[in-house]
Amino acid sequence: MAKKTKSNTTVIINDYLPTPTQAKAHGANQTYKLFGGARGGGKTIWLVQEANALSLEYPGNIGFMGRYQRSDFKRTTLQELLKIIPPTLIKSHNQSEGYLEYINGSVIHYAGLSEQEGISKLKSLNLGWYAWDEASEIPHECFLMIEPAMRHTLPDGRKPPYFRLFATNPRDCWLVDLFFKEGINEPYTFYDTKRREERTVNLIVTPSTIYVPSLPRDNPYLPDNFEENLRKFYPDDYVKVYLEGDWGANLEGLLLLKSSWVRAAVNREVTIEDRPALGCDVARSEQGDETVITYGIGNSIISLDCSRGQSITETAGKLIAMSNSKKTKMVAIERDGLGVGVCDNVKEAKVRHLAVQMGSKEGFTDFDKRTYFNVRAKVWWHVREMFEKGLVSIPNDPKLIRQLSGIQYSYRSNGTLIVEPKEETKTRIGGSPDRADSLALYLWGVSKLKDPAKDYRRRIQSYDFLKSKEDNPYGWKYSENYQEEIYA
Ligand SMILES: Nc1ncnc2c1ncn2[C@@H]1O[C@H](COP(=O)(O)OP(=O)(O)OP(=O)(O)O)[C@@H](O)[C@H]1O
Ligand SMILES: [Mg+2]
Repeated sequence: MAKKTKSNTTVIINDYLPTPTQAKAHGANQTYKLFGGARGGGKTIWLVQEANALSLEYPGNIGFMGRYQRSDFKRTTLQELLKIIPPTLIKSHNQSEGYLEYINGSVIHYAGLSEQEGISKLKSLNLGWYAWDEASEIPHECFLMIEPAMRHTLPDGRKPPYFRLFATNPRDCWLVDLFFKEGINEPYTFYDTKRREERTVNLIVTPSTIYVPSLPRDNPYLPDNFEENLRKFYPDDYVKVYLEGDWGANLEGLLLLKSSWVRAAVNREVTIEDRPALGCDVARSEQGDETVITYGIGNSIISLDCSRGQSITETAGKLIAMSNSKKTKMVAIERDGLGVGVCDNVKEAKVRHLAVQMGSKEGFTDFDKRTYFNVRAKVWWHVREMFEKGLVSIPNDPKLIRQLSGIQYSYRSNGTLIVEPKEETKTRIGGSPDRADSLALYLWGVSKLKDPAKDYRRRIQSYDFLKSKEDNPYGWKYSENYQEEIYA
């Protein structure tokens, strides 16, 4: 690629010849650009070429490049960047501080955004552009944090184009809201030199944003059998996401609740049993996430009460009042962080409740120990079964629906099932899944209420439970501290 420097001498930077989709994304005037959508579409190359061009075309420009994990960035994106910048144009490269200085005064800072160091960088810089690789891994907070930094003025007094560049594989995250919500389809036709035919892809555009999809088949530089091999190796859901760039498919195989199950549960008519109950997920700090109280009757969730900045006593007071007015038979509360205080207050008020410590293995039978990583996994697996069997009804709350459809699970190397920690869901979907957690606690609490039809199964379960007490090497009596079954 030939580029003009300030002194108008043309220097040959590299022999980069963009693919048609790369060219389209390079040329777009929109400030926010999202490129990619599948493996090997040429995303990283596109991103580093943009970074280099912005540094050369605007001497004294300051940019920021990042990925979520610094190690991933250094191993992949940084290597590609260093490959395309002629060494003679680099004045210095400080690996420990994470910046690269050009002889024309431009600087590219880089960092991993999972680390405090990376976050501090975002807060302290004035930038003319930024470029994130695998941007869907990066939390929404970082995006909000970097926006005020976009105010760098070039040494000659000009304002650089404040490009925000994102390259990523598809994933249901904040980028979907940013690029797809208001965007309209715009067909883009180009000649596919490899297949010798015209092809059309759908761009999604607004005046300030553009999404340019790029699939492996749009990248003639890949080996011939690249896509074919991955097709053989990937399960169907992976094919949809990583080869066909389907933002909606979202690896349902790993998702705890399929979005179709969640959608079908909205306002579903279920048999109402007379089991009014509450579930409560307490925010981890008084300034932090939402404290959510779920109210329902049996498997029908009626309302969610969400608030921020509530104290322990306020939350407990609200729970006690709601429990009295709704005549609930159960209040399930997460006993973690501030939840401990809430549980204490509720207990003191003699409200029938179940304190659930999600991160523990409390009350685990031998079977549970082999099956679930912790109580959180067991609780969520129960919720999954309820949704899969179509037994739950939920209100039409978009945040709740988004959170429920965003939780993932996996298996640890020893075969136990683990539901991802809240922080990870938060990172991906751009918000803490507090509503979903509150609902899970609610359904778990309701499942502990006595239901005559399930008496027989319960007898067997409680037998297992007693047996596990004997097996317990610590000599604890779980039943003394934790009610395994609560009778209405
Ligand atoms: N315009 C180009 N000119 C030459 N090679 C290219 C071009 N675009 C992409 N490639 C090559 O295609 C391959 C895939 O490109 P790249 O790594 O940028 O894709 P990606 O979408 O970031 O892939 P991944 O999903 O694996 O991160 C690389 O070997 C890269 O060098
Ligand atoms: Mg890449």
